[in-house]
Amino acid sequence: MSLLDRVQKQQGPDPSAVPDGSYVPQAGNSPARQSSSATRTRTPFELQAERVKNRLQARLIEQTAAEDSGDEDREQRAARITEALNAVVAEMGLSLTKPEKQRMLDSVLNDFLGLGPIEALIGDPTITEIMVNGPDQIFVEHKGKLTLSTVQFESEDQLRRVIDRIVSTIGRRIDEGSPMVDARLKDGSRVNVIIPPLSLNGPILTIRKFSKDPYKITDLIKFGTITDPMAQFVKACVRSRLNMLVSGGTGSGKTTTLNVLSSFIPEEERVVTVEDAAELQLNQEHVVTLESRPATVEGRGRIAIRDLVVNALRMRPDRIVVGECRGGEALDMLQAMNTGHDGSLTTIHANSPRDSLNRLETLVLMAGAELPSRAIREQISSAINVIVQQSRLRDGTRKIIAVSEVLGLHGDQVKVQDIFVFKQTGVSEDGKVQGYFTATGIIPKYFDHLQSSGEGVTKELFTPSPDPAAQGGK
Ligand SMILES: Nc1ncnc2c1ncn2[C@@H]1O[C@H](COP(=O)(O)OP(=O)(O)OP(=O)(O)O)[C@@H](O)[C@H]1O
Ligand SMILES: [Mg+2]
Repeated sequence: MSLLDRVQKQQGPDPSAVPDGSYVPQAGNSPARQSSSATRTRTPFELQAERVKNRLQARLIEQTAAEDSGDEDREQRAARITEALNAVVAEMGLSLTKPEKQRMLDSVLNDFLGLGPIEALIGDPTITEIMVNGPDQIFVEHKGKLTLSTVQFESEDQLRRVIDRIVSTIGRRIDEGSPMVDARLKDGSRVNVIIPPLSLNGPILTIRKFSKDPYKITDLIKFGTITDPMAQFVKACVRSRLNMLVSGGTGSGKTTTLNVLSSFIPEEERVVTVEDAAELQLNQEHVVTLESRPATVEGRGRIAIRDLVVNALRMRPDRIVVGECRGGEALDMLQAMNTGHDGSLTTIHANSPRDSLNRLETLVLMAGAELPSRAIREQISSAINVIVQQSRLRDGTRKIIAVSEVLGLHGDQVKVQDIFVFKQTGVSEDGKVQGYFTATGIIPKYFDHLQSSGEGVTKELFTPSPDPAAQGGK
């Protein structure tokens, strides 16, 4: 059902029949409103605002269709909406006080120009994720922890309007026929929308925010995600063209770390990035960004990550950076890494360096490669050099809990050894994870390679650190 159809349906056959100026709840008007009003009683102002906005929206859609006002800037659009609002308020015979009028205008502009009540959450730099579970429940991630916010949508209709605004900016639409969409906000934040009937608790909106200036290695050191010696090591690995895998759970910071690692790629190299939704922000000048495409509603035109990896290989890349390996592209990446495209970087969803290699094996099998396990493991052990294991700990902090190297095939198992680890020693009374980073004392297999590449890595980097807490206690 199109937006216009929905608006008309909500308004009933004759919009002028709406009793003007009254605060009558319209619970019977639409199933959507019934379900949302069942969970929270709307204030009279909210009910009135809802009716004004529905009528205003119908009017604005008509106007836009008639005037094709696609080139309007924000101010012109705000002026046009204000004018339309005044007309609607007059038509409906509402008598609003001056503060009520202002509140109505603010709310309308927030909805029609911005993202409604979540605008403030979007603007708050300390919030990294916004999870809208229907109109009444919005969770946010604040400093790594999930909390229920006090913000709510006025109604399911308002939430649907905001969703329509977001998806229409990327030329997509969302309705019963295509009830799932990935989109991006203007600031680059990643958005996923899924609506009923696929979601059983109303329209769901998940927004992953990214900091305006992408995090740099100095930020990760400051946050306690990585130490300076670990940073020196991974930087040398990237610059000397080792193949690296960033492994971690959902939201553990894999893409952020991949971005930081990619920033170490020398300026003179040609980088091709391949992602589902372009999230990487590289500063180098010579970067080509490829983005996969979902199938259309008719099921045609899908371009998978795997197709793009194959295409990237024909683009004379010095480096290939793949946002995440989660399907058949794993096989193509391994083959690329084994056939001269060294220095490639990617991420994978796994909870330990060992798991990441098992997962890679599963992905290769999923790609339909009819290879015996041993052959796949041989490919993996010669392709992947270093694994960076990322984790979001119980207290919400994100840490690189291991930097490991792949030693090769021993028997029929791929052998991995840790070079740096985070040793957790306990949890404080206020729930903070306690521990420290240390080298394991093992000199990496690639030490000579790093040295001969002129990366200035010394053996001292790999000296274990004592437990600071135990030292303090002496
Ligand atoms: N080291 C860090 N310290 C603090 N916050 C971080 C760190 N790394 C990433 N973040 C924040 O955590 C959120 C998730 O980061 P990111 O997208 O990199 O994770 P991911 O593992 O790639 O997630 P997904 O599994 O969804 O792909 C972002 O909001 C990001 O800004
Ligand atoms: Mg990611």
